[in-house]
Amino acid sequence: MPYKLHFLNSIPVKLLPRISEIHLSDAGLLSKLGYPFVLRYFENAIKDERAFGFYAQDDETNEIMGFSLASPEPSSLTSKLTADKGWFIRNILKVIFTRPMAFLQMVISSITIRGQMYEPNTIECVYFTVDSKFRGRGLGRSLQKALMDEGRKRGYKKIYASVETWNIASLKATQANGFKIIKTFREGLYHRHRLESEL
Ligand SMILES: CC(C)(COP(=O)(O)OP(=O)(O)OC[C@H]1O[C@@H](n2cnc3c(N)ncnc32)[C@H](O)[C@@H]1OP(=O)(O)O)[C@@H](O)C(=O)NCCC(=O)NCCS
Repeated sequence: MPYKLHFLNSIPVKLLPRISEIHLSDAGLLSKLGYPFVLRYFENAIKDERAFGFYAQDDETNEIMGFSLASPEPSSLTSKLTADKGWFIRNILKVIFTRPMAFLQMVISSITIRGQMYEPNTIECVYFTVDSKFRGRGLGRSLQKALMDEGRKRGYKKIYASVETWNIASLKATQANGFKIIKTFREGLYHRHRLESEL
């Protein structure tokens, strides 16, 4: 399975629908809000000066296999979803009527995130996701490791991640990269481990 990792921030915009499609297999809140939110999120993320990430591309077929994203302030990425008020209201109304639980979770998560303090010199592993046909072969681990290496180069001292307690694949990959569980907590419908690693 030969592949290369490329910077997510320089991905051609026409490939963002593929990133969004891969992201929809993540069980988190962004996926539950639906494709328009996911696409808008990544359109904003690649333009964000402080966020960085990687995507893996198959050497033979050029297919995108997975990606990772980190940021020193993940809530700034989420709040950009509301920047275009007209777009946000139109799309969130659809969520309220079709998936009210996702809306409720969004309210709970935004309150939780608002209370989160960001330590200086730290980053969050915001997402790492691998297309289901390429899983279990170390790609998730190397996409997350690339965030750690790049974070260290940029002078960050610590990386955090939150992983749902049922998500064994993510936990195994994250722990294999040296993260340790520091607490387990509940955020609305989600039960998560909070993990950290020195960089
Ligand atoms: C989490 C994810 C990125 C891991 O990608 P991956 O390429 O499969 O990861 P790796 O192959 O590097 O490592 C996964 C580890 O979990 C193990 N694993 C995978 N599925 C498993 C399962 N259902 N039960 C137990 N272990 C499992 C693998 O064997 C491997 O462990 P090993 O290194 O000891 O062999 C991928 O499962 C994914 O995209 N999931 C959906 C999105 C997601 O949950 N992202 C993380 C959010 S915190």
